[in-house]
Amino acid sequence: MDYHISKTNFGETPDFEYPKALFLEEMGEERLVKLFSDFYDLIIDSDIGNFFPQEEEELEKIKAHNVKFFIEAAGGPKYYTEAVGHFDMLKTHEQFSITEKARREWLGTMEEVLRKVDISDEAKQSFWDFLETFSKHTVNVGERLELEDLVVNKG
Ligand code: HEM
Repeated sequence: MDYHISKTNFGETPDFEYPKALFLEEMGEERLVKLFSDFYDLIIDSDIGNFFPQEEEELEKIKAHNVKFFIEAAGGPKYYTEAVGHFDMLKTHEQFSITEKARREWLGTMEEVLRKVDISDEAKQSFWDFLETFSKHTVNVGERLELEDLVVNKG
């Protein structure tokens, strides 16, 4: 398994591939629900915990709602589309100021929960690769280094 994270070039929205059908076949919906429940329990105590509701009831709602997207993205029933309609990755995340560092924290938390899941590497890798690439679409705040680079380049 390769939990690589490649750098986002600020502003890019790279093409990505949805996870292979094998992923949902091996995981099953129930385990995917558990994965996201564990993920949210960890994320609220992480460096980006401030983005997420700390109140238990709210968090439970978010868990139940958001996993619909991931089941659908993995090739399962269209729960998210039925509940919400079209999903817009950029719009969904524009209300939060997400840096590359925040994306890495999110992915790091995902790695932590994924490591505990016993499915084939092929299935897991295809889910990871989807998250790693698609998450680049959420980065909407450049980091200090990039700002400094701009200033230097302007001379
Ligand atoms: C591939 C990666 C990601 C996907 C597919 C994804 C997808 C989603 C979806 C489906 C929602 C719910 C939208 C709705 O309300 O209907 C959501 C909400 C949210 N996302 Fe993401 N997201 C990703 C990565 C990230 C990253 C990297 C961050 C921040 C570092 C982030 C922060 C949030 C926050 C704060 C919310 C609102 C609270 C919540 O509903 O969890 N997301 N995202």
